[in-house]
Amino acid sequence: MNHTLIDHDIVKRNIDKLQLKNLSEASIREIVLLANNIQKESGIPFIRMEMGIPGIPALDEGVKAQIDALKEGVASQYPAIDGVEPFKQESQRFIKNFLNIELSSENCIPTVGAMQGTYAAFLTCNQLDKTKDTTLFIDPGFPVQKQQHMVMGHKYESFDVYEHRGEKLYKKLESYLSKGNIHSIIYSNPNNPSWICMTEEELKIIGTLANKYDVVVLEDLAYFGMDFRHAYGSPKEKPFQPTVANYTDNYILFISSSKIFSYAGERIGMIAISDKLAERNYPELQNRWNIPSFGAALVYRALYSLSSGTSHSAQRAMAAMLKSANDKKINFLDNLDEYRHRASVMKSIFLNNGFELVYDKDIDQEIGDGFYFTICYPKMDGATLLEALLHFGISAITLDNTGSNQQGLRACVSHVNRDQLETLQQRIEKFQSQYQQWM
Ligand SMILES: Cc1ncc(COP(=O)(O)O)c(C=O)c1O
Repeated sequence: MNHTLIDHDIVKRNIDKLQLKNLSEASIREIVLLANNIQKESGIPFIRMEMGIPGIPALDEGVKAQIDALKEGVASQYPAIDGVEPFKQESQRFIKNFLNIELSSENCIPTVGAMQGTYAAFLTCNQLDKTKDTTLFIDPGFPVQKQQHMVMGHKYESFDVYEHRGEKLYKKLESYLSKGNIHSIIYSNPNNPSWICMTEEELKIIGTLANKYDVVVLEDLAYFGMDFRHAYGSPKEKPFQPTVANYTDNYILFISSSKIFSYAGERIGMIAISDKLAERNYPELQNRWNIPSFGAALVYRALYSLSSGTSHSAQRAMAAMLKSANDKKINFLDNLDEYRHRASVMKSIFLNNGFELVYDKDIDQEIGDGFYFTICYPKMDGATLLEALLHFGISAITLDNTGSNQQGLRACVSHVNRDQLETLQQRIEKFQSQYQQWM
């Protein structure tokens, strides 16, 4: 007999409305809609684990600086496409302070979120060499970057890194790069959705192979410093956020204000291009875009065409937040510790009730508690598990969505408040008593 929290007919009817063959095909936005609809019809508030959006207020320093900038009148002025001076200066300092990487402020460029940064980078990398027309995703990954490829009509290949950690990564990566069609490699670190982090050995492999096969590494640091197993938040002090920039000059880093400063609403991020890559001339760029160097092509062709720069006041906000972190006035990771706490409690609720972590280790180290974690339940594939949890008022996304070959779900902690943790526990215990007979 079924003892679910929400009536089966309500769940079924709303899933059918999506007109999908399988729930694993649902995008994040579709899951949001589904949870909203079931919530509305059943009157039962959901525990929302599907949305990867900040769950804490924006940093005051940013809000204040943005208001001040607007009052000064910046709204009437086009900002320089490559960024306003305070933004560029503080970005360069941040990269030196927290990554221990030197690059020129010229090559720190604001973008309308990291999202626009990757779009512009994919667009540019695809023009460098006639024989290289494909991006390689080290998955699992952020689904919207694949959507960017779909929209541009660009090709990509991908593999799930699950079975290829550590030294095994070398052979796997080389099997793709040696074909000669890859222009760039993208991954996020810490990783959305799995929260695995590349080890130094893995970053070295990526950097070494990028040099050997002349490909650009796109390192997405949207969750900069948020591997809370290490204290990355002090400027000029070890440990530094690990980066491929220690192993290759063929890199672009993407840093977003959305998660580290909870500034997602103002859509402001940064791309940092290595000086060598930015200055490098590509004959094919000259042919196609009538501009020879990588950095200039990215700024004056890609970004200029997309949005003619980034909101002036948002740049001033990010400059102020970076400055506070650089000057040690704030430790930008302190606020974010809330996510670590929630993840630790939520993980133990799931693990005590028959669930397992899907991506559980970085080689021999347990993964940290942070913004996301991945879960599975015996004998259920991702779509079945999601559907079952919806009956208990819990939403998440399936891993199929992220290029993972594993069966399970991504859980995001940011919108589960402390006062919902007890409800989560009760619902998961109920789920377990309903389903443990499967085990
Ligand atoms: C891995 C990854 N990259 C990029 C982004 C987008 O960042 P932004 O809000 O700066 O566009 C996200 C947002 O969830 C993300 O998870």
